[in-house]
Order: sequence, then C-alpha cells, then structure tokens
Amino acid sequence: MNLRRIRKRQLMHLMTTCFILSVVMVYWEQLDNNIVSYMKSFSYRYLFNSYNFLNTSFTVSREEAERFGSRHYLINHKRKCTDVDVLLLLLVKSSPENVERRAGIRSTWGNETYAFHELGVHIRVLFMLGESGHSQVEQDLMQEDWCHGDLIQQDFLDTFHNLTVKLLMQFRWAHAYCAHARFFMSVDDDVFVHIPNLVHYLQEMASKNVQDFWIGHVHKGSPPIRRKDSKYYVPYEMYQWSSYPDYTAGAGYVVSRNVVAKIYQASLTLNATLYIDDVFMGICANVMGVSPQEHIYFTGGEKVPYHICVYDKMMTSHGHVKDMHYLWKEATSPQVKQTTSWFLGRLYCTMVKIKLFCMPNPFTTYPCKAAFL
Ligand SMILES: *[C@@H]1O[C@H](CO)[C@@H](O)[C@H](O)[C@H]1NC(C)=O
Ligand SMILES: *[C@@H]1O[C@H](CO)[C@@H](O)[C@H](O)[C@H]1NC(C)=O
Ligand SMILES: *[C@@H]1O[C@H](CO)[C@@H](O)[C@H](O)[C@H]1NC(C)=O
Ligand SMILES: *[C@@H]1O[C@H](CO)[C@@H](O)[C@H](O)[C@H]1NC(C)=O
Repeated sequence: MNLRRIRKRQLMHLMTTCFILSVVMVYWEQLDNNIVSYMKSFSYRYLFNSYNFLNTSFTVSREEAERFGSRHYLINHKRKCTDVDVLLLLLVKSSPENVERRAGIRSTWGNETYAFHELGVHIRVLFMLGESGHSQVEQDLMQEDWCHGDLIQQDFLDTFHNLTVKLLMQFRWAHAYCAHARFFMSVDDDVFVHIPNLVHYLQEMASKNVQDFWIGHVHKGSPPIRRKDSKYYVPYEMYQWSSYPDYTAGAGYVVSRNVVAKIYQASLTLNATLYIDDVFMGICANVMGVSPQEHIYFTGGEKVPYHICVYDKMMTSHGHVKDMHYLWKEATSPQVKQTTSWFLGRLYCTMVKIKLFCMPNPFTTYPCKAAFL
C-alpha cells in the first residue's frame, strides 16, 4: 500500500523530469548556439577588436572585383544632381513591385520641392531597383519613370540575395553622378525619415565640415548567423570568423561624401559575394579605416510609437507603408515644436519618453537615453 504510493510519486517525478529534459533538449541547441555565438563574438569584438584579416581575405584582383559591380543600367538619370548644391542624396532601396511605397515616399519625406521650399536645401531622392523578371511589371516601371523620372534600374534580378549588388549600385551611382552631394543616405522603402530633423542635423554637421562621418543604428560585434533556416544565414566559406566588424543597420544610415569615395574605392578590390549588404558595407568601411557612430534616433528595424513627444527628435522609424501619410502629417506639424518649446511641455515629454523607452516593453525602439537628451 505504502510502497505503491511511493512508486506512483516516483513515477510522476520521473515523467516530469523526462518531460522537462526533452523540452530543454529541443531548445538547447538553438539557445546554446545563440548564447555561445554571441559570447564568442563579443569577446572577439572587445578583446581583440582587430579585423586586419578582412583586407587580406576579401581582396581580389580588380578584374574579379569588377565582375561583382559592373551591371548595366536599364533606367538611369545621369543629370539628377548636375548644377545643384545637393545637401543630401537619398538612394532608396526599393523593388519593382513596390509601386505604392514609392508613391507614399514621393508625397511625404521624399518630396524634393518640400525640402527646397520649407527647409531651403536641395535633396535628391532616387529609387534603386533590379529587374523583376515579369514583362508587365517592367512596362509599368517605364511608365512610372516617365511620370516621375526618379528610378534607377540595373540588369540584375531584384532579390534578397542580390542586395549587395544593389549596395554596389548605390555607391557607384553616387560616386559617378552625385559625388559632390554633402551627405548620402541609404534607406529602405518602408522606412520613415524625418527630413526636417535630419536636414537640420546635417546642416550642423556640414558647418563643422565633418569627415569620415557614418551614423545609424550600430550593430557592434554581431555574430554571423549559422542556422540554415534563417534569412541571414551565412556559411563558413563566405565568412569564417565569429564576429562581423561594426556596421549600421541597413534600414537607414547616413555617410559623408568622403566616405562614399572610400567605400567606392574599397568596392573596386573586394570580393562582394557576401550577400548581407549592410555587413558588406561594414567590411568595406573597416578596410578603409572608417567606423560607424551610433545615433540614438535611428532605429534598427522597429516602428517607433506614435506620440507628439517622439517626433521632436526622431530621425528614422522602420515598418511604415500604409501609415506614411499619417505619420508625415503628424511628425511635421507645427504643434510638435510648440509642445516642446516651453518648460512644462518639455517636462511632460520627458515623462512620456521615460514611459515609452525606459520601461520594459516589447516594442522598445530608441534607447532609454533618448528620454533625457
Ligand atoms: C589592403 O591590402 C592590399 C594588398 O592586399 C594593400 O595594397 C592595401 O594597401 C591594403 N589596404 C589597407 C587599407 O590596409
Ligand atoms: C511637395 O511639397 C510641395 C510644397 O510643400 C507641395 O506643394 C506638393 O504638393 C508636394 N508634392 C506631393 C507629391 O505631395
Ligand atoms: C542575382 O542577379 C543575377 C543577374 O540577374 C541572377 O543571375 C542571379 O540569379 C541573382 N541572384 C540571386 C541570388 O537571386
Ligand atoms: C569570393 O568569395 C567566395 C566565398 O565567399 C569564394 O567562393 C570565391 O571564390 C571568391 N571569389 C574570388 C574571385 O576570389
């Protein structure tokens, strides 16, 4: 009787243990991989902090390097920057099918006329595209370009794994046709850019005559992802070390014109097989001795919460398509400055930002520091 009861309890115990163990086993490998790779990567980043191997292992002959980036233009506008003093050239990574996103950008932050009339500066906005492989889409593109004259297209298939080809296209275009633009920005077509805030900030940087300037949301010592099911999977043959050099999230980053020249130079001698474009940009910059600086109001890939107190300083926010008009209207409204122009308004906004950025919250976007600056 007693014995049986003990047995029953033991059995329950055993089963629970087995269950917990099997759950742990299933998730262990993934957990282990992530933790171990981050630890390896971080120790690499902070103990050695030297990526001298990049130059030697990525350098190829000029002829070989040329093969990665010398695609033919199908649509081009060589004179977009001619005879104007361009403060900011924005080359938007788009895809042939994303017609609506481009329309949304043209009528909001990508409006060159707005920048000229309201802010007194010249910006240039062009959309960078590969080929879709569908003749109807290509015809529609021709029509769209005929109306707006702001598409640049080369003859490679527009896919995720060809993003580095698009990166080379961006830097080659900027170097060839707009090298005098003071700043260059690479941005995704689902990103919101607060053009007035960005322009004011860049004007200040331009007056200080900054060089080797590269800002965005910085990934420091990120490990390559070795899980085959990940979109960002990179095999050992492509990148054999445990840590990438620092780079800015591809969603949106800004560089000064001397960095454009340097990245262009690097691209003439580097093996561009690595298809993660922002990492490849980091490799080019590292070889040329340029490192990125964190700007807390650039997001890495999240959508910033809608709030009047956030718009005052915001630079970029990710994941906007349908709400682009709404956000543009709200974020550029005169009310934003009115709210933060007096003491109580600023106090209120600090409280709001502490709540938004410093409390544990799955949608954290800007760092907690943003509440106090
Ligand atoms: C990279 O290596 C090449 C030769 O492999 C050398 O000519 C070049 O100066 C190096 N660049 C830097 C920035 O060290
Ligand atoms: C661009 O801005 C100008 C001036 O602010 C405005 O008149 C025009 O309608 C805007 N264009 C689009 C496509 O929204
Ligand atoms: C990249 O573009 C080239 C040229 O169109 C194409 O042959 C290749 O399949 C594309 N690569 C990927 C991974 O889509
Ligand atoms: C470029 O790197 C890849 C590995 O990522 C390698 O297979 C290829 O042979 C290299 N290309 C050249 C021209 O060295």
